Parts: sequence; structure tokens; C-alpha cells
Amino acid sequence: MKEILDNKIKVIDSALSSYIQRQDNPQSVIYEAMRYSLFAGGKRLRPVIAMAVCEMCGGRDEAALPFACAVEMIHTYSLIHDDLPAMDNDALRRGNPTCHIRFDEATAILAGDALLNRAFEVMTDMPQLFVDAQTALKAARAVACAAGADGMIGGQIVDIAGESKNMSGDELMYMHRLKTGALIKAAALAGGIAAGASREELARLEEFACSLGMAFQIQDDVLDVTGDEQILGKPVGSDEKNKKSTYVKAYGLEQARKMAADFSGKAIDALDIFGEKAGFLIWLVQMLINRIS
Ligand code: IPE
Ligand code: IPE
Ligand code: MG
Ligand code: MG
Ligand code: MG
Repeated sequence: MKEILDNKIKVIDSALSSYIQRQDNPQSVIYEAMRYSLFAGGKRLRPVIAMAVCEMCGGRDEAALPFACAVEMIHTYSLIHDDLPAMDNDALRRGNPTCHIRFDEATAILAGDALLNRAFEVMTDMPQLFVDAQTALKAARAVACAAGADGMIGGQIVDIAGESKNMSGDELMYMHRLKTGALIKAAALAGGIAAGASREELARLEEFACSLGMAFQIQDDVLDVTGDEQILGKPVGSDEKNKKSTYVKAYGLEQARKMAADFSGKAIDALDIFGEKAGFLIWLVQMLINRIS
């Protein structure tokens, strides 16, 4: 399974590189900054999910690839902005100085914006796509909705508003569902849409991704306390520094871990209709719950 994962990452990295090439023009620094953050060593979880879901639903790799890469570009932009002084004010990301430290704040803001735009350029580049226009529109819209005010951005707003407060369990779940769950859901849906998945399959994919998103962000909260900065590639204790509302703060370490495990179980259960074809994604969920980075 690890080999399958590595192969998918190779395909994704090579496509990402082709979508954002260095340019020799007056704005070349923007390409440098976009590539700096994109190739700093992320886990590629979201594009891997999109590719694996497409395969599970009987689609071709080429059909999902542009959408998978678009989600990773948007995710990377969200991290560049998340690290800015106005937000979490962190200096380390993916094992390297954050974009605004390596370049400057203006360049980091614009690199994030440019990654968001490039994502939509890629998803609407019809001659390069292996899906029809209606399918592309449906997948692109799923990604657009997930990234915006009722998705990741909305979650980031709730996250900032929750600093120095004690959020209720429901509020915490709402925040995690938006800030992290939405893009993971978009990855799964885009993969399913690219493969021509049925309504029932898409509903199961949504369930799968929502539960996985919860498990993933709770685990992220846990790692902010228990992680090793060298391995994690980002600062430990960032949430405490910013007085964030997290699952660890609300429930304690052990209970948070248990909740992450429960959500992982739900994610796996949602895949039962796919039978043996879900093998890789089940392995991925199990690997993520034990992750240390
Ligand atoms: C970090 O996401 C931010 C969260 C939403 C938890 P990842 O843990 O997927 O970060 P990378 O892409 O591997 O750097
Ligand atoms: C960020 O959550 C989620 C995003 C939408 C970027 P965090 O602020 O916890 O992510 P990390 O821990 O900095 O990666
Ligand atoms: Mg944050
Ligand atoms: Mg952060
Ligand atoms: Mg975090």
C-alpha cells in the first residue's frame, strides 16, 4: 500500500510542477513563492484522496488529476495565509521557514491568492481535461464551495473568533468541519464526480470525507501538543500560544484521541458499499490515525 501511495504522490507532484512552472518575467518571484510552499514537503493527503476515490469508483487517473492538484493548491494557499502574522503567526511550515518569512508578507499573501486562482485555471482548462464540460463544472463547483465562506474560509473565521474563548462541543465540530473537513470533502467529491460516481456513491463519499476531516483535525490538535517539531515540520504549541479552541483543550488529550479514532472508524464504515475496492482508502485512514506528522 505504501508503494501505491508513493506512486500517487509522484504523479501528483509531477502534475503540480507542470501546472506551476518557473517563469522568466517581471513577476517571476510569485512563481518562486508558489513553488516554494507547494514543494516544501506536504503529505498530499487531499490529492491522494481525490485520485484514490476516482480509482475506487472506476474512473481514470487523468480524469481526477487536475481537480486533485487544484485542491492541493488551495490547501497550500490556506496554509500560507494561516501562518501569516495576522493569523497564527507561525515561522515554520512543512519543515521550512513559512512563505512570509522566506519572502515577505506581501509576496506570501499574493502567492496564496495566485495559488487559489491557478487552481481554477487548471480546473477549467477544457482542452487539457479528460472529463466533459458538465462534469468539470460540477467538480470545480464542489471545490469552489468548499474553499469559500461556507467552507475553509468560514472555518478559519470561526477559528480566529474562538481565540481566548471556550467553544462548546458543537461549535468545535462546526469549526473543524469547515476549516479542514470541507477541503477533504471536496477532494473526495471531485474524485467521485470525475469518475462519474452515482448519487448514492457520492453520498457515501461525503460521509467518508466528513468523518475523516474531523479525525484529521482532531489529530492535528493532538499533535500540536504531543508532536515533535522536527518530524511535524511546523511549530508545536502554536494553538496554546494563540489561545485556540481545540479538541485537546475542550476534552483533554486522551478523550480527543478517542474521538479521532471514533471518527476514523466512521470514515471506514462509510466505505462499505465499495467493498474490496476501498482497500487503499481504508489503509490510508488507519495510517493517518497513527500519524506523527
Ligand atoms: C495541515 O494540513 C492543516 C490542517 C488542515 C490540519 P496537513 O497536515 O495536510 O498539511 P500538509 O499538507 O501535510 O503540510
Ligand atoms: C488550519 O488549522 C486549517 C486551515 C484551513 C489552514 P491549523 O491552524 O490548526 O493548521 P496548522 O496546525 O497550522 O497546520
Ligand atoms: Mg490556524
Ligand atoms: Mg495554524
Ligand atoms: Mg493545527
